[in-house]
Amino acid sequence: MCMNDNEPIDELEQIEIELLLEALYRHYGVDFRNYVMSTIRRRIWHRMRAEHLKTVSGLQEKVLHDRRVFKRLSDDFSINVTELFRDPSFFRAFRRTVVPHLKGYPLIRIWHAGCSTGEEAYAMAILLHEEGLLAKTRIYATDMNEGVLEDAKQESFPLDRMESYARNYELAGGKKSLEEYISVTGGRAEFRPFLGERITFAQHNLAVDESFNEFHVILCRNVMIYFNTHLQTRVHELFHQSLSPSGFLGLGHRESITFTSFTDCYKEMEPNEKLYRKVK
Ligand SMILES: C[S@@+](CC[C@H](N)C(=O)[O-])C[C@H]1O[C@@H](n2cnc3c(N)ncnc32)[C@H](O)[C@@H]1O
Repeated sequence: MCMNDNEPIDELEQIEIELLLEALYRHYGVDFRNYVMSTIRRRIWHRMRAEHLKTVSGLQEKVLHDRRVFKRLSDDFSINVTELFRDPSFFRAFRRTVVPHLKGYPLIRIWHAGCSTGEEAYAMAILLHEEGLLAKTRIYATDMNEGVLEDAKQESFPLDRMESYARNYELAGGKKSLEEYISVTGGRAEFRPFLGERITFAQHNLAVDESFNEFHVILCRNVMIYFNTHLQTRVHELFHQSLSPSGFLGLGHRESITFTSFTDCYKEMEPNEKLYRKVK
């Protein structure tokens, strides 16, 4: 078996990877069968090297018989990079174009799907607080990965990120100073408790789980880039079902609803941001 992930995939390796993903699904109920193959392949090879294995079939045996190896592989598949006010222009646009509509709602439900360690949900809580909307908002933040949700529930982040997060906050149109929302304890920056009180973190897997509520806003940013077209369609169906009439959908900069079967169901809110409004 070749061990260089730049080489084109051969038929045998393709079969082994498909069997491994099927085994994960049937034995552990986690479904990576419709993730982008090149990413999955890179992560599998990373795990093979770390476990000193020569073949994907060898990895399959270990994963099926040793839950700890399964855990390590599924953590490899989950790419958790995030930031507070990541892509500040998106949050600036959200404040400018979505917030004025939300002001008329008696209550607001927001779903962050694929929230990682929670920074995106805390950013939303800060933004809504500054717009006087947080008290009537409930934020649901979900991810398939239990480990990142545990981190999210700590309501804090490493202090060395403070400077870049403060810069993002400012570029995102923040009205105060980020420090007003933070207290420093033991090398960590802790969010003020009133922010976390409006957020519920829960496990939800976009590949297998169903809709669990109706939302006025759904953000799913930098998650679907890892999904193939089949899984993207499933997730767009789920979001369309879960959005209230005239609800808002926000995607990552490298994601889009163009070329999906849902293009006609949304109107673009901002030309340079992936911010849409449901029209049917
Ligand atoms: C790169 S992070 C994006 C975090 C945040 N939305 C942002 O833009 O900063 C992608 C997250 O999607 C989650 N994810 C991947 N596949 C998922 C699935 N099938 N269901 C739910 N979450 C998933 C990963 O665990 C990871 O935390």
